[in-house]
Formats: sequence, C-alpha cells, structure tokens
Amino acid sequence: MTKSVTTEMRGDVAVIWIDNPPVNALSYHVRQGIVAELAAAQSTAKAAVLAGRGGTFIAGADIREFGKPLIDPILPDVLDHVEASGIPVVAVVEGNTLGGGLETALACHYRVAAPKAKLGLPEVNLGLLPGAGGTQRAPRLLPNVADAITLAASGRPISAAKAMDIGLVDQVADDALDAAVKLAEEVAGKNFEDRRLSKVSLAMTPDIEAVFEASLTEVTKKAKGAHAPVRALQSIRNAFEMPFREGMDQERATFKELVVSDQSNALRHIFFAERQSAKPPSDVSGTPRKVAKVGILGAGTMGGGIAMTYAEAGFPVTMLEMSDAALDKGLATMEANWSRGIKSGRITEQGVAERMARLTRTTDYADLADCDLIIEAVFETMEVKREVFKKLDQVAKPGAVLATNTSYLDINEIAAETSRPQDVLGMHYFSPANIMPLLEIVRADKTADDVLLTALDMAKKTRKTPAIARVGHGFIGNRMLTPYLRQANLLILEGASPEQVDKALTDFGWAMGPISVSDLAGLDIGYKSRKDQDLSEHEQRIYTVADRLVEAGHLGQKSGSGFYNYDKATRARSENPEATKIIEEVRAELGINTRAISDEEIVERTMFALANEGAHVLAEGVAQRASDIDVVYNHGYGYPRWRGGPMFYASTVGLKDVAARVMEWSEGSSGVHWTPSDLLMSLADEGKDFGDYDKENT
Ligand code: 3HC
Ligand code: NAI
Repeated sequence: MTKSVTTEMRGDVAVIWIDNPPVNALSYHVRQGIVAELAAAQSTAKAAVLAGRGGTFIAGADIREFGKPLIDPILPDVLDHVEASGIPVVAVVEGNTLGGGLETALACHYRVAAPKAKLGLPEVNLGLLPGAGGTQRAPRLLPNVADAITLAASGRPISAAKAMDIGLVDQVADDALDAAVKLAEEVAGKNFEDRRLSKVSLAMTPDIEAVFEASLTEVTKKAKGAHAPVRALQSIRNAFEMPFREGMDQERATFKELVVSDQSNALRHIFFAERQSAKPPSDVSGTPRKVAKVGILGAGTMGGGIAMTYAEAGFPVTMLEMSDAALDKGLATMEANWSRGIKSGRITEQGVAERMARLTRTTDYADLADCDLIIEAVFETMEVKREVFKKLDQVAKPGAVLATNTSYLDINEIAAETSRPQDVLGMHYFSPANIMPLLEIVRADKTADDVLLTALDMAKKTRKTPAIARVGHGFIGNRMLTPYLRQANLLILEGASPEQVDKALTDFGWAMGPISVSDLAGLDIGYKSRKDQDLSEHEQRIYTVADRLVEAGHLGQKSGSGFYNYDKATRARSENPEATKIIEEVRAELGINTRAISDEEIVERTMFALANEGAHVLAEGVAQRASDIDVVYNHGYGYPRWRGGPMFYASTVGLKDVAARVMEWSEGSSGVHWTPSDLLMSLADEGKDFGDYDKENT
C-alpha cells in the first residue's frame, strides 16, 4: 500500500501531506502516518505544515471505522501529539475541513485557509459530538463562545471568510500552501507556547452563562428530538467548568456513548443511503446526455417550483402553459416566492431579477424544440398527459429527455404515446419543489440507460437527492402513504382524536402529523381521487369522515378549516368542533365501539404499515433497496432523520416483532386493511433485517 502520509522538505519546513482519497478521512493509517511523520520532522525541520492532497484538508474521521474495533492511535491522542510538537505546525485549511479535520487544524498552532475552504463540525449530523477536542479547543480559540456553540451544535459548515471573521483561522490566502510555508518560516524558532490551546484557561462568567442558557433553549428546539446537538453544547460548557484534560475525558466518554446509540446508527445509515441512492443501478452504463436548456410544461404548483429549481441552478428554462393568463399567474408566484427571501437576506433583488431573466414564456409547443430536457407538470389525468406527450413527440429534438412529474400514473403508458419511449422517464418532485430535496426518478420499462443517467446528473446539478423507482401506482413514496394514512384515519374512527394521532407522530419525530398533512394538502384532493377510483366499501368507510368534511366545506387549510380550524392570520390550528361532531356521528353510524388508544399503538400501527408496504415495494422491485425507501421518506415526507427511515426503524425495532404485530392485526377485526408482506415475514423468520436484504440483493 502506498503511504497515505508523506513529507516533503521546503527549506527548513517539513510539509506533511495527507493523501487518502476521496476526502482525506482520518483512517487509522493516516493517524499513524501523522504521528510518524511529525515525530521525524522534530529532528529534521524547524517548523511543519500539515496539508491535504486533492484540494481537501481533511473531511473528518473515517466514518466507516465507527462501530469497529479501534486501531491505535485514536484521534484525540494524535492531536495531543500535534499540539505538543516541539516545532510549530501550520494547517493548510483547504476544501472540506470538517469534523476531525477541523479538530486537527485546531490542534495545529496556526491555521491558513484557502478562500474556498469549508470549515465545520458536522458530527451532530451523524448523531455524534466532536470527539477529538473540538468542544474543548474551539471555545478556547474563539473570542465569542456563541460561535463555538453554533459550529458544533448546528453542524453547518462556514466559509473561510466567516472563519476569519470569528477568529477560527489566522489568515485567508489565495495560495494557502505558499502562505502557510511562509508563516511556518516566520514562526520557526520563536516561542509559540501561547498557541497551544490546551493551555488556555477559561472561566464561567454571568455573560457566558446567559449565552449557554439562551443557546440551550434554541438548540433543543431545533434538534427536534435529536440528542447530539444538546450533548455538544453541554460539552462546550465543560470547557468553562473544568480543566482541559477533564473536559477532553468527558467529551470522549460522550462520544463513545453516542457512537453506539440508535440515533447515531440511524444517521450514519442515512448518510451512506443518500450516497448509495444517487448511484446508477449496476445494470446501467454510459454517460449522461448534455442538458443546456430545460422546458417545463405547466406553471402551476409543481411546474413553478421545478422551474425555480432549474433557474436557481443556472439553467435557461422555457415554460409552456395553456394561456397567457396561466403564465402570468405562474411567473408572478415564482417571483413572489423568490422575493420573500430578500428581506431575510437569502437573496438580493438582483438575484431575483437574474433568475427571472432565465425564464422564457410560451404557449407554443414549437418553442420547446431547442430544449434538451422537458419536464411535464400538467394536470394529473392520463388523457391530458397522453395528449401532451403526443405533441412533445412532434416538436422535441431528437435525443431530448422527456420527463413526467406524474404522482401516480403509468409512465409506460405515457411513454407509449411517443415514438421514442426510450427517452421517457419519471422525474417526480415533491411540493414545494424548489425546497424539498427529494427527486424520485422513475425508470420506465424502455427508459434508456443514458436517460436515467441524465436524470441522476440533473439531480446532482440542481442539488436534489435522487432515489430510483420503477413504475407502479404511486412509485415508492406515495404508494406507501396510502396504508400510512389509512391507519391514521382508522385510528380516529376507533377512538383517537386527530390531535392525538398527530401529536403521537410529531413526538415520534415527524415534521408534521398525517392529519395536519391531509389538511395542508387539501381534503378535496383525496376526495376527488376516491371518486375517480372504484374503492371497495371497507376502504371507502375509512374516509367517511374526510368525505363528510369536504361535503360540509371543510377542505383543510385553504378553506380555513378541515380536521382542524385554522387562524386566518397565524394559521395556528385549533379543534374544529364540527369535525369532532362529524367524527362522533360517523363512529355511531358505523357501529364502532370506541376505546382509549395509546400513543404507542398509533406509532406502531402507522410505522409498521409503512414498513409492511415498503417490503411489498421492495419485493415487487419498485424500489431497489430498503435504504432507498429510507431516503425517499427522509427527503420527501419529513420523516425524522435520526430514526433512519421507515425500513431502518423497523429493523431497529426487530423484524420479528414487526412481523408478529402485522400478522396479529391482519387476523383481527380490521384485518381486511392489512396484507402482510411475504418478504417481511420471511426476513423475520430467518432472523434478518432490511440491511441484510440490501446486502444480499444489491
Ligand atoms: N469517512 C469515510 N468516508 C467518507 C467520509 C468520511 N468522513 N466522508 C465522505 N466519505 C466518502 C463517501 O461515503 C463517498 O464514498 P463513495 O464514493 O464510496 O460513496 C465519498 O467519500 C465521496 O463523498 P461524497 O459523495 O459525499 O462527496 P461530496 O464531494 O459530495 O461531499 C463531503 C464531500 C462534504 C466531505 C461529504 O462527503 C461529507 O459531508 N462527509 C462527511 C463529513 C463528516 O461528517 N465529517 C465528520 C466525521 S465524524 C468525525 O470527524 C468525528 C471526530 O470528531 C472524532
Ligand atoms: P396545478 O393544477 O397546480 O398545475 C397544473 C398546471 O398545468 C396548470 O397551471 C394548468 O394550466 C397547466 N396545464 C394543464 N394542462 C396543460 C397543457 N395541456 N399544457 C400546458 N399546461 C397545462 O397542478 P400541480 O399540483 O402542479 O400538479 C402537476 C402535476 O404534478 C400532476 O401530475 C401532479 O400529480 C404532480 N405532482 C403534484 C404534487 C403536488 O403536491 N401538488 C407533488 C408531486 C407531483
């Protein structure tokens, strides 16, 4: 194996290079290398520079090593060595300087950053706290403790300019390596004792105490059930209340506790799941088609949001609608949406103008002839979609990718309307499309490899998280929503209140409960779709309450009331007494003997319904991997990230227990609403989980 840490002498300065592609993670051989090379430099050099190859300093500890037996030296010890070095060490902070990478820079005596560097302590995103001195050295370096708290508790990286501003680096230089070598020459042979952060002593003052108190409230609120951010904050507090060494020991102990926690396991699972879901399936080869210009059909809710996504990524976009009035309305909404960000400083007026200038409007299909990718977001009926694709087939240039944003319809049928089904696929965005990160890419039977690769490439270029699905009613996400909402509505009929159902699930960690989501989406949408479908009587019964609400004019948030009443000004929700009355009436009509329902039952019924349907989706090949389903639910539906996803959660509970409950419910009085998945049952029988399934099948 080639050495991952090497030294190059520049005069009297030893430049110690870390070379561990792709991100220079601190794998055990890197840790060993840093210690060995720095030890050698003590006798050969007057100063050292620590730098990373490939434009990145160090993106953190090697996450793949977590959960495995530790190989010495552990990072905190390596960094003690660095800090205790007899010669000054200057870090070249370039590219991603994250987690253990930033902690390494903090153990060095000086830090020089490149202008494009990103510095951060993202450990909380993995359910951890900085575990190699980050919570002890950062508050000793930064004049304002709030900056250390934000770095460690938010997990968000900052720019080099901001790092300079808050005192995290000593210099920002275009040629950071050159500047670091110069600085090393300057400080060589001089006293640098005051640069050893472990020697700095801190004391708690009333002002600092006030910062901690305010931060605790804010961090707890933002964490939404995740443990790590608060633990990171507490560890920073230790820096003011105990000596450095004791603070380090506490930090280490917390790190060790968190690294084996369910939350950290779940967050690491989703970190790797996201990267996996963005990769092409193994049977796909080739290169993406070139996309310079994008066409979008429909300037409604979805078309507008999708157009914003592409315009934000710098693509020129042609928007086609049925009338000028529809275009006026759609473009005005987009402009208003962007302009909302001006006040908060997210965007400038000029930024809005630049984005608007990327949009061209038309009612003429011929104007789509120069588009390389055309995404359809018109009304959700097969008739309209067919007509649209027929027309697209006549005008689109050869090789243009033709995508539909349909939520449920059969994309093979849509593709068959064209003479080029190989160019057709689903690109299913989520509302609001400019904000929601998920892109479900639906690979139809005849979709060409390079068309699929183009959609994946577009996801990357527009900063979306993709997951690939196959054709099937509702693909992955919406298909699974049906049994989830079915259970939520059944629970209300059986005795739970809408508030109880929502609260049990927001307490579980969901961004919103299912009943609030239904009110937000509009109860009339489900109503219309149920009228269009030939639902069985027992299925129809479940939605009697929702249907009666619609018929009484309670359409959800848009009409001011649905399952809940909504305050016009604040949108704050309260009980809707009319809904309560309707619920009671329906329960009586259906002859249901209500009972007290526990929050635990609400969570189990809804979450296991998701996992059971997810297993059907897997077995049918609509999803390739259980981990893709987790990505879909995290990025498209507000599932709590720290639980990993519906499939990972079921595995955490234990598939044996999940399968037993599903079986029990399927044999009970509401059994008609359950179709136990054979795959779930067989994995449970074999003592396996969805992680095993993914390993064996991909
Ligand atoms: N350890 C191991 N592998 C890592 C890694 C890490 N810290 N960071 C990234 N990788 C891998 C990815 O899994 C991916 O592998 P693959 O090609 O086999 O799928 C590859 O590196 C490239 O990663 P990305 O696709 O994410 O590349 P990007 O350029 O889009 O992003 C990045 C780069 C911003 C560095 C992003 O990978 C990232 O955020 N990484 C995690 C950073 C992090 O969380 N660091 C803290 C780790 S915990 C820690 O340091 C504990 C310490 O306090 C003790
Ligand atoms: P919408 O009703 O807000 O917008 C549809 C737009 O398409 C309207 O502005 C209409 O004038 C236009 N349109 C209709 N027929 C047209 C045609 N032949 N040519 C050009 N324009 C035409 O609907 P929405 O919500 O934007 O949905 C669009 C598509 O996106 C549907 O297929 C829907 O299922 C899907 N979708 C919707 C989501 C949502 O949350 N609203 C989420 C994901 C997908």
